[in-house]
Amino acid sequence: MRVTSAILRSEAAATNARAHFGDGYEAWARRHGLQDWEGFFSGYDETVYGAVLEDVCEADTVLDLGAGDLRLALRIADLAERVYAVEVNPVLVAGALDAIGLDLPRNLHVICANGLDVTVPPGVTMAVLLMRHCRHFEVYVERLVEAGCPRLVTNARWGMGVETIDLTQPPVAFDQVREGWYACRCGATGYVGTGSRPLGRAIEVASCPRCGESEMVGNQG
Ligand SMILES: C[S@@+](CC[C@H](N)C(=O)[O-])C[C@H]1O[C@@H](n2cnc3c(N)ncnc32)[C@H](O)[C@@H]1O
Repeated sequence: MRVTSAILRSEAAATNARAHFGDGYEAWARRHGLQDWEGFFSGYDETVYGAVLEDVCEADTVLDLGAGDLRLALRIADLAERVYAVEVNPVLVAGALDAIGLDLPRNLHVICANGLDVTVPPGVTMAVLLMRHCRHFEVYVERLVEAGCPRLVTNARWGMGVETIDLTQPPVAFDQVREGWYACRCGATGYVGTGSRPLGRAIEVASCPRCGESEMVGNQG
């Protein structure tokens, strides 16, 4: 199958040649404000990708932010109406496109740019942010909500694994959480209370103590 062989070639290109970390990397990372691990490419495992792929519908227009060597974007393109894949590292994108060659699917739009500089394209129904070390979660969420994107699949909030966030639901005020885990739109996570609900699903909040807009009530996060 054409897409499968394109994925394998894209993965092989990224695995074999680590040129995207080569000479000039530090200056490039500085230019883009990429700190620590933020500019590092590393693919995730099948559990992570599976969690994304099972959420994709035929009618979806997907925005993949930090698409790396396009290995996931190619698979999403097989399932969705359209995919916009945004990746900041030109060496990585060049290697992936070279490996994919003329097998590049028509519905996969590759954008080599900093995700912070890219407007959310119209009609995006699902965003993917698989970027463990992302420092701009809040900015992306704000822009996606503003653009009317209904859901975000991400692993960017520490301790949350891969989660699908329903962006159509307004987050609750942090002060209303009495007991349990919370996950904030700023990207912070934590626990409020005595620890009596260690296994409950995290409550989606806005303005947690880390955002500095709410008073800290028994926060342990
Ligand atoms: C850990 S890798 C994951 C790649 C891909 N999401 C995957 O799961 O296979 C994170 C990627 O995000 C890219 N990235 C980091 N900051 C970015 C930004 N501001 N705009 C676009 N891409 C970015 C990095 O260059 C890297 O390729």
